Amino acid sequence: MAWVYLNGEFLPHEEAKISVFDRGFLMGDGIYEVVPVFGDKLFRFKHHIARLRNSLRLISLDIDYSDQQWRNLMLQLVKRNGGGHQGIYLQITRGCDPHLLRKHAFPQPVQPTIFMSSDPIPTNSKEAMLQGATAITLPDTRWERCDIKSIGLLANILATQEAMDKGAKDAILIRDGLALEGASSNLFIVKDNNIITPPIGPYILGGITRELLLELAKQHNIPIEERNIPAQELQQCDEIWFSSSTKELVPVLALDNQPIGNGHVGPMAKRMIDLYIKYREALRES
Ligand code: PDD
Repeated sequence: MAWVYLNGEFLPHEEAKISVFDRGFLMGDGIYEVVPVFGDKLFRFKHHIARLRNSLRLISLDIDYSDQQWRNLMLQLVKRNGGGHQGIYLQITRGCDPHLLRKHAFPQPVQPTIFMSSDPIPTNSKEAMLQGATAITLPDTRWERCDIKSIGLLANILATQEAMDKGAKDAILIRDGLALEGASSNLFIVKDNNIITPPIGPYILGGITRELLLELAKQHNIPIEERNIPAQELQQCDEIWFSSSTKELVPVLALDNQPIGNGHVGPMAKRMIDLYIKYREALRES
């Protein structure tokens, strides 16, 4: 049985209920976080909480939980669900209008809905990450605030499904001629031994895994550039990867049915996978 956290209580999942008038359900009025847990340790907790607070600020929603409260709640939930490696899903919505009206304006007063679940996740082995994936390019049909981790994921869902229907694993989203990110991951390319990733801004999500990879590259004096990537550069680069909390680092071996580099996992991806796994293992052991 899975336990969840809902508005101040831990409950078996089948007993957790929210109103059909919740604005998350009716309007997608909410934000979320995904926090990986490796061997009972919260992965980059401070970074995830900072991004959560930023998303809340950008949608004008106030939650008065301290970092310590969030940490305790997450650890309790993970423990109730058996510990080990898990992915915590945290969603906060603007709750329901007290008069059960469906209005666009914020309800008065706001009673947010705070929900967390956690599920076991397999950590990707080095071998699994080295398998890589294929991708296609698609127009980015999302809105202009992709830095908010909004629960409104329809454009991301449609892009992922279109990629899968076309036999690929993921999509690289293109806006105004620039390659921005995957449908649920950040984007990196490698050209002449330089790692390049688009700068953070309103058109991408500031990924926590992205930030860690930048940090690890800098620590090991690997050249890294945060700059725009014109879409045509994708076919001319040596390597492409995706990064995310759940996928970790995924090398892209073919894009739009054309091999990237020699069609195998490149040396920089291998190096970064090693550094990433070392970081993850150290966290588990600390
Ligand atoms: N997605 N960009 C988008 C659009 C994402 O949805 C995600 C993560 C990322 C990577 O962020 P991070 O490294 O912090 O996971 C980038 C999560 C995992 C999801 O929607 O399930």
